[in-house]
Amino acid sequence: MNILAFESSCDDTSVAVVKDGKEVLSLETVSQTDIHTLYGGVVPEIASRAHLEVISELTEKALKPVGLRNTDAVAVTYAPGLIGSLLVGVSFAKSLAYAHKLPLIPVHHIKGHVAGTYLTYPELKPPFIALIASGGHTHIVKAHTYTKYQILGRTRDDAVGESFDKIARVLGLGYPGGPMIESAAKTGDPNSIHFPRVRFEDNPYDFSFSGIKTAVINYIHQKHQLSLDIPVSDIAASFTDAVCDVLVNNTVKACKDHNAKKLVLAGGVSANKTLRKKLEEECNKEKINFFAPDFRYCGDNAAMIGAQAYYEYLQNNTASADLNAYAVMPI
Ligand code: KG4
Ligand code: ZN
Repeated sequence: MNILAFESSCDDTSVAVVKDGKEVLSLETVSQTDIHTLYGGVVPEIASRAHLEVISELTEKALKPVGLRNTDAVAVTYAPGLIGSLLVGVSFAKSLAYAHKLPLIPVHHIKGHVAGTYLTYPELKPPFIALIASGGHTHIVKAHTYTKYQILGRTRDDAVGESFDKIARVLGLGYPGGPMIESAAKTGDPNSIHFPRVRFEDNPYDFSFSGIKTAVINYIHQKHQLSLDIPVSDIAASFTDAVCDVLVNNTVKACKDHNAKKLVLAGGVSANKTLRKKLEEECNKEKINFFAPDFRYCGDNAAMIGAQAYYEYLQNNTASADLNAYAVMPI
């Protein structure tokens, strides 16, 4: 089954054709990073317009190797995300599905991120535990099936990717912050500065990243007040170390408590090599199989949406032409 999939929830416009949820036949993405860099973050109105400008051309390119005649369904990210951006993808996908009498499959963005891992490991099957770490979400979930998830823990304030972006901005490293912090951290000492690691008694799988953000900002202000140099690389490395400690600790605990033998790391922050390495090392110690998507499927892309759509379709989770987009939607 060939699914034509659309992703436009934030600042990447992406169109793909995915066969049977596992094989990527085409993937075309245009990133808006260059545009939003000028403003230090995503400007929603500009993002929606930029999606509109490229979506038709990307669809033509993505369909070239397959043809619309060999397409069996249309899938689209319908939630969560920036409402204006989501609406571009949803309206486009709805029109195409209606005009060509194809089933329309709505996909939850976060489930899409997890499904990106099936593209790298076609043998991977639920049940498993997943840590979803992105710009808008930080969740530990138990995937009972491809479509049924149970939330075990979540952030109580900032998402982890958001905290990378904020620290990068304060350090003057630019946008998007995650890759900038990762690159600055390479030459830094992760043990040079101790930043707080927040843990909760009432739910050991929950996260909080606003305290560490404040601690980093205070540290930088103190250096400024004393007219001292800002040790950018040491801050980046120590911040990454603290964040990874909490992510790894809570996630591996969730695996052990739930007797899970498989762990998936997904979402934009899964591109961070330090996080991947630390999580994999801890999993090896605990005899848990560790899976993370290939780097090309870590950030937002339509291939992961096409992968998840296949399993949604098998569960008859299709939509009619009145499908709407939603900025917020539980997993
Ligand atoms: O999943 P994603 O592409 O978009 C959302 O659904 O939010 O995640 C984007 C987030 C951004 O906050 C970005 O800074 C972060 O992922 N990110 C990283 C890295 N690459 C992207 N964070 C840490 N290290 C990275 N290498
Ligand atoms: Zn995402």
